[in-house]
Amino acid sequence: MPRHPALDRNLMPLTASLRQVMTRLNEGVGGVVLVTDDDGVLRGVVTDGDIRRAIIGGAAFEAAAHTFMSRAFTAGRAHAEAIDNLGLLSARVRHLPILDAHGRPVDLLTWADLWRMPLVQPSLGGNESKYVNDCLATGWISSQGAYIDRFQSAFAAYMGGGQALCCSSGTTALHLALAALGIGPGDEVIVPDFTFGATANVVIHAGATPVFVDVDPVTWTLSPAAAATAVTPRTKAIIPVHLYGHPCDMDPLLALAREHNLKIIEDCAEALGAEYQGRRVGTIGDVGCFSFFANKIITTGEGGMVITTNKDLAILMARLRDHGMAKDRRYWHLEAGFNYRMTNLQAALGLAQMEVVEKFLKRRADLVARYDKALTGINGLTLPPRAAWAKNVHWLYTIAVDPAVLGLTRDQLAQKLMERGIETRPVFFPLHPQPAYARAIAHPCPVTEDLAARGLSLPTGNDMTVEDAGKVCEAMTSVLRTHLVFQVRSA
Ligand SMILES: Cc1ncc(COP(=O)(O)O)c(C=O)c1O
Repeated sequence: MPRHPALDRNLMPLTASLRQVMTRLNEGVGGVVLVTDDDGVLRGVVTDGDIRRAIIGGAAFEAAAHTFMSRAFTAGRAHAEAIDNLGLLSARVRHLPILDAHGRPVDLLTWADLWRMPLVQPSLGGNESKYVNDCLATGWISSQGAYIDRFQSAFAAYMGGGQALCCSSGTTALHLALAALGIGPGDEVIVPDFTFGATANVVIHAGATPVFVDVDPVTWTLSPAAAATAVTPRTKAIIPVHLYGHPCDMDPLLALAREHNLKIIEDCAEALGAEYQGRRVGTIGDVGCFSFFANKIITTGEGGMVITTNKDLAILMARLRDHGMAKDRRYWHLEAGFNYRMTNLQAALGLAQMEVVEKFLKRRADLVARYDKALTGINGLTLPPRAAWAKNVHWLYTIAVDPAVLGLTRDQLAQKLMERGIETRPVFFPLHPQPAYARAIAHPCPVTEDLAARGLSLPTGNDMTVEDAGKVCEAMTSVLRTHLVFQVRSA
């Protein structure tokens, strides 16, 4: 019979000391070790809670496991029906040893094997299949068809106006904007150091040079002050990124752009619905670019959108998206354009998603409220940024962990949550040290470096329930409580 891969790491002898058991628990074995005698028979289990109680009770670090283990444990039987063993798992028993006829652990059944909280899952319960099936039934599956216009119109209406053009991804949306704005070789483009690589890659694709500047410690987004120090005569554009759903402080960036005649391309990949001083992001700069990858606020599988109120720019972007062909003369290329078109199939998904975008945002706000309620005031946790002028849509509820206060690092916390079936995601690395950007220009980015080492995104999805968020909070507080006790005792 195949054994659970974690079983061997869970086993410890009766003679193991409190310190050894704590060390093993700290290595991440699902919050429990199984204590066996010389014959391999299970004699007791030790959980994080048992350790906490032993420490509070004054147990010595060298005390042997048998003095503080729980002898009353729940175990399944190797020859029992699987369903009977499953029935023994509960919120209290998340790690079930399976014993042979002699009482020796031969397998494990864990809660995390059965219950998983993914970081994000797309929500496709509206008109998605109806509209996609309509494309299939009518044969309009490529980049022509009614859903393209309907999706673009619905998107523009939601944004309060402008010309919206859907494209094949958030990355191609950004590249299209740069190309249409004439950014090219010899030009510099200011980009935050703290973002997904696509923001900088497109600058390189355009033949220009990314200039990395730091983010602001309050908003975690492009620092206007840092951007101001990075402007040179070669600077042609700034790409503010509304990271994790929090808007950038746009007014000082707009002022900087006016002063130096720079273009502003908003990277709204993660921020559909976010607002800066009551204005939707994407409508503030020259062009707004959105992503509809499956983990975004709305999805088309892969996909993106550019939006602008500049009619000439919209015409040029539409043409560049379609190979640079003249609208009134087929196969006549005015520019060497791209094929960055979205398919009608994707637009069908996008339209269905736009119909429920407000519902998605409301659900996210409810999840945020639940997370806030449980996590506010925990020393050593910084909650997601929320400037007074910002509507943060919390694409991912992202916190920063202070290991000096909590006694565990961001990655240890992530590991412990994973053991409880909860998927999390570390934030992006700083871009400037990465090989791809060796030729970019980098300004000092201490805030990015700090956040990148400590930031962790918790599950945040359109279909996630408030109860699900509650389970994540429970797991978080249980992990943190245990570590706090370790710390107090070791101090
Ligand atoms: C900040 C940011 N910019 C750009 C992109 C690129 O979007 P896409 O994956 O749709 O190409 C993403 C998405 O992953 C992103 O998070």
